[in-house]
Amino acid sequence: MNRPSILLTGGAGYIGSHTFVALHGAGFAPVILDDFSNSHPAVLERLERITKVRPVLEKGDVRDVAFVETVLRRHRPAGVVHFAGSKAVGESVAQPLKYFDNNIGGAISLLRAMETLGGELRPTLVFSSSATVYGDPATVPITEDFPRSHTNPYGHTKLVIEDMLLALQRARPEWRIAILRYFNPVGAHPSGLIGEDPAGIPNNLMPFVTQVAVGLRAHLNVFGGDYPTPDGTGVRDYIHVDDLAAGHVAALQALFAGQESFTVNLGTGRGYSVLQVVRAFEQASGRKIPYEIVARRPGDVAQCYADPSLARRLLGWEARKGIDEMCADAWRWQEGNPKGYAG
Ligand code: WQD
Repeated sequence: MNRPSILLTGGAGYIGSHTFVALHGAGFAPVILDDFSNSHPAVLERLERITKVRPVLEKGDVRDVAFVETVLRRHRPAGVVHFAGSKAVGESVAQPLKYFDNNIGGAISLLRAMETLGGELRPTLVFSSSATVYGDPATVPITEDFPRSHTNPYGHTKLVIEDMLLALQRARPEWRIAILRYFNPVGAHPSGLIGEDPAGIPNNLMPFVTQVAVGLRAHLNVFGGDYPTPDGTGVRDYIHVDDLAAGHVAALQALFAGQESFTVNLGTGRGYSVLQVVRAFEQASGRKIPYEIVARRPGDVAQCYADPSLARRLLGWEARKGIDEMCADAWRWQEGNPKGYAG
């Protein structure tokens, strides 16, 4: 059976690698374009163990238009999923130019290459956006028509790329574009072979918790205990990375089936506080997570969780895995890979 090719920029990363597995399972032939600037080559061998096929890799920088054009000509993908980009909020505040260059420059390069081949390949794109484009929402749950704003350069790049895609859509109606706004991706493939592998000190809650559990960190700092939330700690919509990956497959299938371009939230619709996540993780792992409540982290919002009904209506997709499974799968990955892919 000839499998339609799908190009995954940043496909060796956390979300990309899990989407690789989901696309393969859905009958596609995913191709990874990655420069390993924020991922590890060892993921390729892990993906082969899961899918039984050696991933096709195109090693290079998505900002190199000629390279991207060559890759598009070689593989003639039916669709492209654009994951490649930098994603650490704190780092983006310290190094805004790196984020504007890498994220916006990378998107422009990809879009130009796709436009060059537009005559031969109907441009079909899924873009990895983020709930961060909602800034500090006035109410929750959040629907896609909520006002957007940015509170840091990382979020600003996501917002700018969304606007570029909307302008492109108006100018080129034949393009098929899906913008997916991720809430908080956590967990790992149940095999424990692939998972989240942050460089340095984790910015995000779950990898920090798993590193405390495995003994790499002494305790968790809970950023703020005085938010207007049930237990005073921040509330977020954690979504299992495999549910997120399934959302990408559903988005591509909808575009191929004729669904016009769209923007959807990919979240569970349920919020959990930091302390609720800690308790769920302790239950799932059997490990105690010592923590200390400290000052709020600048830029954090009190609550952020999705109304996912549009994705359910348009794509027939909804998240299926609960917080317990998210914690159990995150722990299996960390326990089996205490130092991530570096081993
Ligand atoms: C979650 C909650 C923290 C770490 C960001 C980006 C978003 C996406 C996911 C890239 C908050 C608290 C965290 C810690 C803590 N990034 N926390 N101690 O900030 O909701 O979202 O990451 O794709 O675009 O905005 O995620 O995991 O950093 O924080 O108390 O050591 O955990 O205050 O309430 P966030 P997070």
